[in-house]
Amino acid sequence: MPRTPTAARGAIITGWGTALPDKVVTNVDLESMMDTNDAWIRERTGITQRHVGGTTAGLSAEAGRAALDHSGVDPATIDTLILATTTPDRTVPASASTVQEALGLSCGAFDVNAACSGWVYALVTAHGLIAMGAEKILVIGTDTLDRITDYTDRNTGILFGNGSGAVVLEAAEGAGQMLGWDLDSVGAAESALFAEVGGVLEMEGREVFRRAVRLMADSATKAMESAGVVADDISLVVPHQANIRIISASLDRLGIPLDRASIVLDSTGNTSSASVPLALADALDKNRIADGELLLFVGFGAGMSAASAVVRWSPDAPLFTARSAPEAS
Ligand code: COA
Repeated sequence: MPRTPTAARGAIITGWGTALPDKVVTNVDLESMMDTNDAWIRERTGITQRHVGGTTAGLSAEAGRAALDHSGVDPATIDTLILATTTPDRTVPASASTVQEALGLSCGAFDVNAACSGWVYALVTAHGLIAMGAEKILVIGTDTLDRITDYTDRNTGILFGNGSGAVVLEAAEGAGQMLGWDLDSVGAAESALFAEVGGVLEMEGREVFRRAVRLMADSATKAMESAGVVADDISLVVPHQANIRIISASLDRLGIPLDRASIVLDSTGNTSSASVPLALADALDKNRIADGELLLFVGFGAGMSAASAVVRWSPDAPLFTARSAPEAS
């Protein structure tokens, strides 16, 4: 079924921010914790280091505040906060509530858990809310995977780290930036990657790899079809950062060269819900994205879930509500 947006009221990203905990664990550090080595990890995954520590709400508040500052939006006017995370700080309540309080927002706040696809799920959900009348949404992706990773297990312990990325999404005149999208889940494959409540991540690495390549390519293709664009039209892919070989193999299938992807996993590892917004912020901070260019967001992860969106970068599109200066009190 084509997922072509029909709403006359679209949205655009007007600010972004990130947060990474200070503590870094390098591949060399891991050599004393498990039977592995730096050369193997870099060659098989592309990862050199990952960040650990912090809380999901704490990192989210830091990234969210940076995104709000960057956008210039008055926090009092944010009407929804969506936090994509698969590692909430507590089972109840949603970590979004803690973030809302930390940022001093008065708005609806909820978590989305679609594992590593979570931030793209949240971004698509936010566009739907804006089509229904919301005006300014803070969309955050954060995970603290160190709390569910066994750093003595070389199967999983080499891959995961913590981080957060956030964007401010504002209602725009007309169709806005999102041209097409796809959300997928293959529940039959959930045993390939899971963590029980209170447990650690368990993974069939080769099975996840095999499925991830196909899922990413299929989801991206569906999003591009719904947007009415082809791979050659895409200026930059912003993929989930799990393994450089997964990204490379799925881009091969799509016919997109690897140098058209934003890659941060060498320094962050797999940060799950945070990885797509971290890679987006990195590309924007390096001026790799020009007005009018087409971006392809692609996430995949446990579930197994997948999510893609085609976005035309248009930061100067007219906003639905003109910004007014905050009133002096
Ligand atoms: N360090 C050193 N050697 C390792 C190792 C490690 N951390 N892990 C496995 N090996 C060894 C294996 O024992 C095996 O040795 P053998 O040939 O003597 O039997 C060899 O390396 C190859 O193992 P294999 O499991 O086939 O490696 P791989 O190329 O599939 O890489 C993963 C393993 C986990 C990196 C890879 O399967 C992967 O990235 N899968 C996807 C995981 C993922 O992205 N999960 C999150 C999704 S959101």
